[in-house]
Amino acid sequence: MCAMDYEIAQRHLRTNKLMGVDFLPVSKVETNVTGSSQQELLEQLQIEHNDSCPHCTQETGYTQTVFGAGNPCASLMFIGEAPGAEEDACGEPFVGAAGQKLNEIIQAIGLTREEVYIANVLKSRPPQNRTPLPTEIQACGPYLKKQIEIIQPDVIVTLGSPATKYILDTDQGITKIRGLWNSYNDIPVLPTYHPAYLLRNYTTEVRGQVWVDMQEVISKLP
Ligand code: URA
Repeated sequence: MCAMDYEIAQRHLRTNKLMGVDFLPVSKVETNVTGSSQQELLEQLQIEHNDSCPHCTQETGYTQTVFGAGNPCASLMFIGEAPGAEEDACGEPFVGAAGQKLNEIIQAIGLTREEVYIANVLKSRPPQNRTPLPTEIQACGPYLKKQIEIIQPDVIVTLGSPATKYILDTDQGITKIRGLWNSYNDIPVLPTYHPAYLLRNYTTEVRGQVWVDMQEVISKLP
């Protein structure tokens, strides 16, 4: 259980006890068999990634790895492509212009950035911000899959082609499959446009499509 959830649960428990109730229903298993919390497991995975990722342990000119950010027990997970210049400089995903747009999308769903989890397929910035190569994704991508396994989100939103193709193991481009529900290991996955694409194509049509996608997401969240 996350520290914040734990505090809230304890507060509820104290109030309930006063009223004669001495248990709380638990909706999600948040510890594994060894009792490690999702936060601890993610921290361990981050260390393992930084020590052993076949791609990110190579010197490709990046400043630091960008592992992921947000709630380790999140119901909703967003997956992007790779860190850009701003993310490379500060170590957090989606903090540049695309990140501001993603924040607005998250707010439109009625959530905050702290309530969701945000990660990328590639954890280090590709040289000149180029699109990640398939070999790079194959090397680093398994760490993303382990993140998903730990977080166990109820819904995944893939942002743009590289994330969608990797998670859904498909060759179909984003324009073909955006807005169509699919699944990864029984987790519902909704591909939508990358916020950077949305910024470059800020038309009523594209904005409307993303908004329709987010309404789908809202309807699927518990
Ligand atoms: N674009 C991405 O795909 N990920 C980031 O973290 C930032 C921009």
